[in-house]
Amino acid sequence: MAANSRLTSAEFKQIGDRCGTDKTLQHGYHRFYPAHLAPLSQLNDFGILEIGYGEGSSISLWRALYPRAFVYCFDRDVEDEGEGYRVIKADQSSPESLSLAIAKIEHEVHLVVDDGSHNPAHQLQTFSHLFSSLLAPQGVYIVEDIETSYWLDGELYGYATHYGLFNHWSAIEAFKLIVDYTNRSFLAPCDQSQLEYRLAMVGLDPQASALVGSVTFAQNFVVLSKADASDMAYYDRPYVYGERSQRCP
Ligand SMILES: C[S@@+](CC[C@H](N)C(=O)[O-])C[C@H]1O[C@@H](n2cnc3c(N)ncnc32)[C@H](O)[C@@H]1O
Repeated sequence: MAANSRLTSAEFKQIGDRCGTDKTLQHGYHRFYPAHLAPLSQLNDFGILEIGYGEGSSISLWRALYPRAFVYCFDRDVEDEGEGYRVIKADQSSPESLSLAIAKIEHEVHLVVDDGSHNPAHQLQTFSHLFSSLLAPQGVYIVEDIETSYWLDGELYGYATHYGLFNHWSAIEAFKLIVDYTNRSFLAPCDQSQLEYRLAMVGLDPQASALVGSVTFAQNFVVLSKADASDMAYYDRPYVYGERSQRCP
């Protein structure tokens, strides 16, 4: 893709299909990706991290779309490297394993895609770990296949998955809390501390959550963008209607 040109959904689908990834062959994620990838077209010499190797198809996809990027992949079972990419053995269910893997990354990472175990607890913990410490400001964090949040009795990659609609511990319900947290400057202090308590209870680090600039929900797909300094200025200023509206009982 030429620098500055806007990637279309049809182009993403064509390249994804050619690379053999289920992102386009099965899930239809070409409907959502291009709108969120626009900032990457301006960058040079940056990192992309995808959790989950599968057959390596998504590494081919990112290499084809962004030849000026270096692609990292974390996978529980695979270690490999080649031109423009490295697969690091890491278990996303373990914070220690994630920390060791992050230490091997040598580029500023502007895109993280979680397409690993799909276990909701891992999705939340991995977000908490990578969003603040690895992703660059204005970077994009994508969680694919959040369908597991709706599973009452499921199993994937050896992990039991018991959640269901409105289950507080599911990834979809937890990420909904971040919508409230992006509006924390309008909350009364008692409500804000209750929200921070709930974030922590469900496995979301409030410090990582505080860095979210926007959240987008689509079918089976969640996108969180990272705030930069100019966004943070809007979060940190006093609320003009706060004196009355933010009084706790
Ligand atoms: C759906 S596949 C990835 C597909 C690939 N991203 C693509 O689009 O072509 C999921 C991968 O996650 C890996 N995986 C499962 N549990 C994991 C864990 N706890 N930590 C890291 N990787 C894990 C599996 O080994 C598998 O390779």
